Amino acid sequence: MFADQVREKISYEKILAPEDGFVEAAKAFLAQEGAVGCNVTMPFKLDAFNLAKVDDQAAKDAQAVNTLMNSDTGELLGFNTDGVGLVNDLLNSGVEIKDKRVLLIGAGGAARGVITPLLKAGAVSLTIANRTKAKAEQVANAVSNPKVQVVALEDIATIAPHIVINSTAASLSNELPCSLNDGVLQHCEVVYDMVYKNSPTRFMRDAAELGVKTQIDGLGMLVEQAAEAFYIWMGKRPDTSDIVKQVRDIVEQSEKRN
Ligand code: ATR
Repeated sequence: MFADQVREKISYEKILAPEDGFVEAAKAFLAQEGAVGCNVTMPFKLDAFNLAKVDDQAAKDAQAVNTLMNSDTGELLGFNTDGVGLVNDLLNSGVEIKDKRVLLIGAGGAARGVITPLLKAGAVSLTIANRTKAKAEQVANAVSNPKVQVVALEDIATIAPHIVINSTAASLSNELPCSLNDGVLQHCEVVYDMVYKNSPTRFMRDAAELGVKTQIDGLGMLVEQAAEAFYIWMGKRPDTSDIVKQVRDIVEQSEKRN
């Protein structure tokens, strides 16, 4: 869709790499004539980070790469566009990040990629809470920024966050990542669930019932991280607004069929 919009002809296909064969699969693909780059998804983002030359700060902090590019000089460069994708989706949705307190629930790969971009966008603090607290501490230590803190899941209300982001996989099984009933949402203006489904997730529905005005799912982030990767490869920035709508239609149709 991006290529059509900017009148480029590209080929973009899925490659299923064997779990113990990412490096071989990536190298074989990238050695082909005309190969510009590729996206990398779970569980290979750390392998991609180790394979590439990484100057991108978000990728360095996340220790994860979702975009690889063959550079003109023959080097393989690695980037992480997940966080830019989240920030751009928030901004497109009219959410102000500047001077806001952000609570990030979860400390997996999805969480790690978004920390630096949220701080760059002006968040006044970013607090990580995770079921396994030690993992949140590890992630915060890796970033080593005074604005990044860790709190126990039981104590998230003390943060009084303006923006709450659910980066856990809990919504996939219709679960909440933590209790939302203890006043944590009192000052919250926006909840963001990185999961996207045909209908709002339980996290989004409960937040709405508890009075949070805006609930956003992760579909826009999916499109925006892809748009950023496209920009890295092609040097052209696609207009995403219509494409988010089209992708939502595709998701709805495919969920109806399943
Ligand atoms: P990803 O890389 O996609 O983020 P991951 O590394 O497996 O996936 O991380 C999943 C995150 O979701 C973790 O923070 C996990 O918490 P733990 O570190 O305690 O395992 C969190 N998570 C998954 N299911 C959850 C649930 N039902 N409730 C709360 N947190 C959950």
